[in-house]
Amino acid sequence: MSNEWLDTIVVSRRDATARIVVLDLARPDGVELPEFTAGAHVDVLVDGAAGLVRQYSLCGPPDDRARYRLAVLAETASRGGSLGMHRLREGDRLRISRPRNRFGVSDKARRHVLVAGGIGVTPLLAMAHALEAVGAEYELHYCARSRADSVFVEELERNPRVRLHFDDGPADQRFSTVADVGGPESETAIYICGPGGFMDFVISSALEAGWPSETIHKERFAPVADTAAHAADGTFTVRLGRTGGEYEIKDGETVLDVLLAAGVDAPYSCRQGICGDCIVRVLAGLPDHRDDVLTDRERADGMFTTCSSRALSPILELDL
Ligand code: FES
Repeated sequence: MSNEWLDTIVVSRRDATARIVVLDLARPDGVELPEFTAGAHVDVLVDGAAGLVRQYSLCGPPDDRARYRLAVLAETASRGGSLGMHRLREGDRLRISRPRNRFGVSDKARRHVLVAGGIGVTPLLAMAHALEAVGAEYELHYCARSRADSVFVEELERNPRVRLHFDDGPADQRFSTVADVGGPESETAIYICGPGGFMDFVISSALEAGWPSETIHKERFAPVADTAAHAADGTFTVRLGRTGGEYEIKDGETVLDVLLAAGVDAPYSCRQGICGDCIVRVLAGLPDHRDDVLTDRERADGMFTTCSSRALSPILELDL
């Protein structure tokens, strides 16, 4: 991992819902934080001793360099990341990476439709702040199980561009891609963020409604498949284009783990196929994409995530 860690301090902490904590982070010396663009996330070193790193989207206004705002859901299946974040108190120190963004606002679109599921609202909130600041045309649909499960709901209710959709509310306010987003329009982009099932539903219904895939921008909060699903895969060989080194990737191993164990200086961060930091170019062979970060265009251009993806061909040559 090639992170330059920034020291921050928790300057504000509040329980926004029973399961969501909102944390504001600032530099201990009071200097400005690095710039970020709407949709960006940071790596957080949740437990320095255990090397536990998690990614969280920045949900505050991008023009606020005094503090970064995170909203963290306590995951029921947490391996320590989200629960560690919930244990933080004001005054606690936290190391984070510089912001990175693979989910930015499209500069090709004139109108922007943001669709959030649950805690997936966080990067879209930053986008809404940024679009509002420049007077862009946008709307935000925020889908949640209930009002009590929603974060920043009082603030969002005051914004006429926001529609709230609660699963436990009346049928006529529940989200429908057809009714709320409609059919494709030129110069309009859709941005979707949330849990996997929600995203699959919105993406497939938008494609069915005729939206071209390149107008649908997405970011998931969990990998498409867990690593256990990879255990039935066959063995293949990775060849490195720059050194000629060959490495066998067995069932249950990832390309990234094998390369790191062999001392190869391969980039990475999340190790879950969601951040994009491990992306390399395929020089030969047929990849079996298991990530949730590459666009169809990037896959067609030969991009590959070493932390999660595998090969359909016996040999896969990478630009490493
Ligand atoms: S390390 Fe994050 S996608 Fe591979």
